[in-house]
Amino acid sequence: MREHVVGQIHLADNLEFLRQLPAASVDLIYIDPPFNTGKVQQRTQLRTVRSRDGDRVGFQGRRYQSIVLGTKRFSDCFDDYLAFLEPRLIEAHRVLAAHGSLYFHIDYREVHYCKVLLDAIFGREAFLNEIIWAYDYGGRPKNRWPPKHDNILFYVKDPSNYEFHVDAIERIPYMAPGLAGREKAARGKLPTDTWWHTIVPTRGTEKTGYPTQKPLGILRRIVQASSRPGSVVLDFFAGSGTAGAAALELGRRFILVDNHPEALAVMARRFDGVEGIEWFGFDPTPYQKRGKQRELFAARGARQGCARDA
Ligand SMILES: C[S@@+](CC[C@H](N)C(=O)[O-])C[C@H]1O[C@@H](n2cnc3c(N)ncnc32)[C@H](O)[C@@H]1O
Repeated sequence: MREHVVGQIHLADNLEFLRQLPAASVDLIYIDPPFNTGKVQQRTQLRTVRSRDGDRVGFQGRRYQSIVLGTKRFSDCFDDYLAFLEPRLIEAHRVLAAHGSLYFHIDYREVHYCKVLLDAIFGREAFLNEIIWAYDYGGRPKNRWPPKHDNILFYVKDPSNYEFHVDAIERIPYMAPGLAGREKAARGKLPTDTWWHTIVPTRGTEKTGYPTQKPLGILRRIVQASSRPGSVVLDFFAGSGTAGAAALELGRRFILVDNHPEALAVMARRFDGVEGIEWFGFDPTPYQKRGKQRELFAARGARQGCARDA
């Protein structure tokens, strides 16, 4: 990405896009893939783990061993999902800088399968945390514990050399500040791997209307900890562009990719007025106030027989 560019937004299939990105070119990746890809994928089984004595040689000469996971009991849909994710995660690993990090956002139903897949690609030693994002919203079934959390798997490319800016992380209040002492209470404490955070408020400026939008507060914390000003943050399942919004706020640059025009339309409105964003495969102007003003202006000019540049 050129130096003066604040962000890039692409309407594209992310696998094709990732294959064109140079190796080691991004500092931080956050992704929040959908469970249902809506595509019929070839049926494959989760089949490899890293092993020194493995019979298969894979990415960067790493050895893998075939494993059987009783996949007959998995639904076809789930096998398809891993087959969909695997090549994208292999590319994610390739495009991450040596000091880079990946945050993979998923839910409790799939997290364990995705963890095994990510361990195979990044290596088990590269897994640093499973972050639990706990919220309290929506219905409460009466026949089990109401599930009220998402899971975010945190991997680094190189566990001996990665960015984690602990001092940049916004601290949170102590639950019992009286027990912590005045000085500590005033400073607050570091968040742990369990993050209590509301969902995107139904009213308020943050809400874009995109159904799967994630809260800016969650992305802010990730960007603060695992990148620095000027870093490049990539989200190739961008949706409403929350990762980009957090990056922008914190002085990082971003690359957002989504294959759904509705997501691009939402991002066009969200980033309306921000200078230095490059758009690829999509014209944001019809969705932006400034674009609309420009169109009106041009139309008025044309009516007056003196079309001019706005
Ligand atoms: C769960 S949403 C992401 C929401 C996002 N985190 C936010 O805060 O708005 C997943 C997104 O992935 C996109 N997507 C699914 N398959 C894709 C593909 N093959 N290439 C690019 N984007 C894809 C969908 O269009 C959807 O917008």
